[in-house]
Amino acid sequence: MKPKKKSDQERRIILGVETSCDDTSICLLEFNGTPKILSLNSYNQDFLLSKWGGVVPELAARSHVKAIPPLLEVCFREAQIGPDDVTEVAVTTHPGLMGSLLTGINLAKTFAMIKELPIVPVNHLFAHLEAIHLTEKVSYPYLGLLVSGGHTAFWWVKGPNEMEVLGTTLDDAAGEAFDKGGKLLGVGYPAGKIIDELAKDGNNKKYDFPISYLRDRPGKMSYSGLKTALRVKLAKMSKEEIQENLHDLCASYQEAIVQTLRVKAEEIIEKILQLKVRDFETPIVIGGGVACNSRLKTIMQERFKNVHVVNPLYCTDNAGMVANWASRVPELAVSFPECLGLDAQSRFVEKK
Ligand SMILES: [Fe+2]
Repeated sequence: MKPKKKSDQERRIILGVETSCDDTSICLLEFNGTPKILSLNSYNQDFLLSKWGGVVPELAARSHVKAIPPLLEVCFREAQIGPDDVTEVAVTTHPGLMGSLLTGINLAKTFAMIKELPIVPVNHLFAHLEAIHLTEKVSYPYLGLLVSGGHTAFWWVKGPNEMEVLGTTLDDAAGEAFDKGGKLLGVGYPAGKIIDELAKDGNNKKYDFPISYLRDRPGKMSYSGLKTALRVKLAKMSKEEIQENLHDLCASYQEAIVQTLRVKAEEIIEKILQLKVRDFETPIVIGGGVACNSRLKTIMQERFKNVHVVNPLYCTDNAGMVANWASRVPELAVSFPECLGLDAQSRFVEKK
């Protein structure tokens, strides 16, 4: 590995790479005590995936290959720096779809090999929550709620790489419940965003959808019953009826998803952390794609005192959160050439 100049050690320039699922994203971040995004560009496959109603792993991986070169070029041009300025590479190595992860890892290794740079292997889930530090100062410990298409989990966060799982979904993630519900309702993709918009003009009390209390299993959530309840409800309605009541259906369905998260947050505070909700002043950080949901933000901020939601710019999968997380864990950097042996890992939180 090349010895770094003193000035390089003070001013880190991190090339962030995110390809864990269906978003291709590249970022150049400067870290000089605080993170500053110099450029962030992403390629969203929504239009491609709308045809299939969700992510198709093989298509996602192939799309990353095509999207990476132009994104890389635009990022360097916007940041007005060159490849020689980069001091380290950060890439999501886990969890995610294997084919997609490997595409980004190959880019990271290629760049690291040419420039003889270290690589920080990034935990995608931790990066989602820690993205809060891109725009706000939040102290540790905090209660993290990660809500995305692939994960729904509560964490006790003591540091950027010190997170303990307090609760998870038993089956579908919250984002998956939005996607599957959206498919049944025929609203298109990305369903979460569309349902949120349609729900704004709807009555969230019109239809009664189940909230997964699972009172004997604190912290555990389930969304499979909700999806089935929607299917049963729609089967009894005509196409015209569904269209006439689409806003109310979206509002009521969305309400059940977000109220489940509110109930589980209360339960974790009272039963697992053994504290009263009214006395709970520890920060709560909400990150992940579903953190963009306007109703979730409203409900959580009404119910709890100290709620911080990741900026929508950094909620969905993006390389800004990847480079930011790497900037916070310099001790995890793997030197060149050892970094060329880094591998992908598909799972991180096991569903029990
Ligand atoms: Fe994600």
